[in-house]
Amino acid sequence: MRTVPEFPNLFVADHPLIQHKLSHMRDKRRSTMGFRQLLREIALLMGYELTRDLPLTTERIETPLVEMDAPVIEGKKVAVVPILRAGLVMAEGLLELMPGAREGHIGLYRDHETKQPVEYLVKLPAAAGRTFILVDPMLATGNSAVHAVDVLNRHGVTDDQIRFMALVSAPEGVRVFHDAHPEVKVYTAALDSHLTDDAYIVPGLGDAGDRLFGTK
Ligand code: URA
Repeated sequence: MRTVPEFPNLFVADHPLIQHKLSHMRDKRRSTMGFRQLLREIALLMGYELTRDLPLTTERIETPLVEMDAPVIEGKKVAVVPILRAGLVMAEGLLELMPGAREGHIGLYRDHETKQPVEYLVKLPAAAGRTFILVDPMLATGNSAVHAVDVLNRHGVTDDQIRFMALVSAPEGVRVFHDAHPEVKVYTAALDSHLTDDAYIVPGLGDAGDRLFGTK
């Protein structure tokens, strides 16, 4: 993981496999099937890094030979929470890595007049004693990410329980997110150059939702 002096809570997953797969995703010739498969694979690899410091405890078990205090992850099962709809495929990758994880959902749309995110669906597992991994492939303006963390906070999840995972991030969005929730660690595969006037990340990969689901 690479850190960036400007953003103390941003971690860039610079593993060669992740970078290689991301380059394939950015290529506009990639098929819907290939794009989806690559995102699932990257999410799994990033999940491995993102969960590296989950606290361990021990559980008394019996192997066929002896009793032992075996290491197990402390606390309740992790919750994976995709922001709909583009976060869904990243969540699949994380659930492959952690099949016992719970899955919540936060559905947001952008109000055309206020330009602010509005919730249309929120379903979450119980908050206490659980780590929440919030996922959205594109951290662009940061507004949806901030709003999704606000939603978690309202459901009793504190910032220190939350990690945010994005595939590609724009500096503008990371700044907005860090200003609102400085304690939440952000894991991303790339910190790109900037946002366009209509909030696309450059160089980016286009509209992640459309490319994942084959829509226009
Ligand atoms: N959302 C996307 O899908 N792509 C971007 O570039 C920015 C936001």
